[in-house]
Amino acid sequence: MFHLECIGCHEKFGGEKVIYVCERCGDLLDVKYDYLELESKLRSKEWEKQPLSVWKYKDFLPILDLSKVVSLGEGGTRLYECSRLGRRLGVKKLYVKNEGDNPTGSFKDRGMTVGVTKALEYGRKAVLCASTGNTSASLAAYAAKAGLRCVVVVPSKKIARGKLVQAVAYGAQLIPVKGGFDDALKIVLKLSQARKDLYLLNSINPYRIEGQKTLAYEIADGLRGRPPDKVFIPVGNAGNISALWKGFKEYRRLNLIDSLPQTIGIQAVGAAPIAEAVKSGSETVKPKSHPETVATAIRIGSPVSWKKALQAIWESRGTAETVTDGEIMEAQRMLASQEGLFVEPASASTIAGLKKLVEEGVVGRDEEVVCIATGHGLKDPDTPLKFSEKAEEVEAEVEAVEKAIGVLR
Ligand code: F0G
Repeated sequence: MFHLECIGCHEKFGGEKVIYVCERCGDLLDVKYDYLELESKLRSKEWEKQPLSVWKYKDFLPILDLSKVVSLGEGGTRLYECSRLGRRLGVKKLYVKNEGDNPTGSFKDRGMTVGVTKALEYGRKAVLCASTGNTSASLAAYAAKAGLRCVVVVPSKKIARGKLVQAVAYGAQLIPVKGGFDDALKIVLKLSQARKDLYLLNSINPYRIEGQKTLAYEIADGLRGRPPDKVFIPVGNAGNISALWKGFKEYRRLNLIDSLPQTIGIQAVGAAPIAEAVKSGSETVKPKSHPETVATAIRIGSPVSWKKALQAIWESRGTAETVTDGEIMEAQRMLASQEGLFVEPASASTIAGLKKLVEEGVVGRDEEVVCIATGHGLKDPDTPLKFSEKAEEVEAEVEAVEKAIGVLR
């Protein structure tokens, strides 16, 4: 069994009715389980033999009716050992967990398979989100599979083309607003209170976080129960870092791992309210009114899950760091050209952050590190083209092409 619990006043709520925040104090909610019951369910060990996927962990998820599960085959993403890049950056072992492997090309699918299943359990006919792009792409796909209507509210500018086309193709109602993600989120939060026909699936919804926490379980299982020293993760609205830490803590509590990794949150310099709070040792986060970065996925100034993110960082004795747009684009090129992994700019920020923290001595050269690549590179085809040299056109003749190749070194 499970219930919802407020992270501020610890008030408990059953799962019968839809709530997104604490009805007493308005703080964020967490899903809590009866861990003794869970332990006894896990004793059979049958589940451990199943291949990695979100639903391998069905006993850890808050679903009442498994016949309602809406799945496109999410999770089970590959954990790549990146030895060439690891050597170059100066760490003993570098792994990249490639969340771009998910059905719509980002980690959001882990949350949406659970979240849209809850929408069906609650009998809702329509789902809603605000998004910098990936959430809307993912929600649109899962809503389509479930036969639900889907409304996505997105910034009218600076949303990556690949993400936009996904939402449209999956049949969502797209509402571009003249503003950024923070404006869009404020609107859907208000709307979801007023309109009981819409089920909100931004990461404030605690059930979505439950799906996303399977990322941590998969990392632990992929490394045979030995979590790395550090996990690097990009931070935008701060749901995923919260989910990751919850997953590791639950695995530890259930004795499925015997150590916890440090959680390192990476933000872009122009959109770094969490990293700024961590660096100044502040217990609260000061919102940033005009966030700006080439990594549009994390162009967020007022992260809704900031409290859970700070908790993840402090409890794990981790940290947060900022990286410039130039560093992000360089990291994207390095990962693609040295390891064959093409990830979107927000995802590459983790590699840029790792490079910086190795140089600063925060990451030791004998450490094992996992970087979370949250989304596929093709989501945003325009940005890398903008940052690279344009290839010169030549005549359609062998000689001209051979001349253009030149002498290979
Ligand atoms: N990486 C990618 C590729 C993302 O799309 C996002 C968030 C993040 C990292 C940050 O995750 O918000 O949980 O801290 N994208 C959201 C969206 C905001 O609307 O698609 P977070």
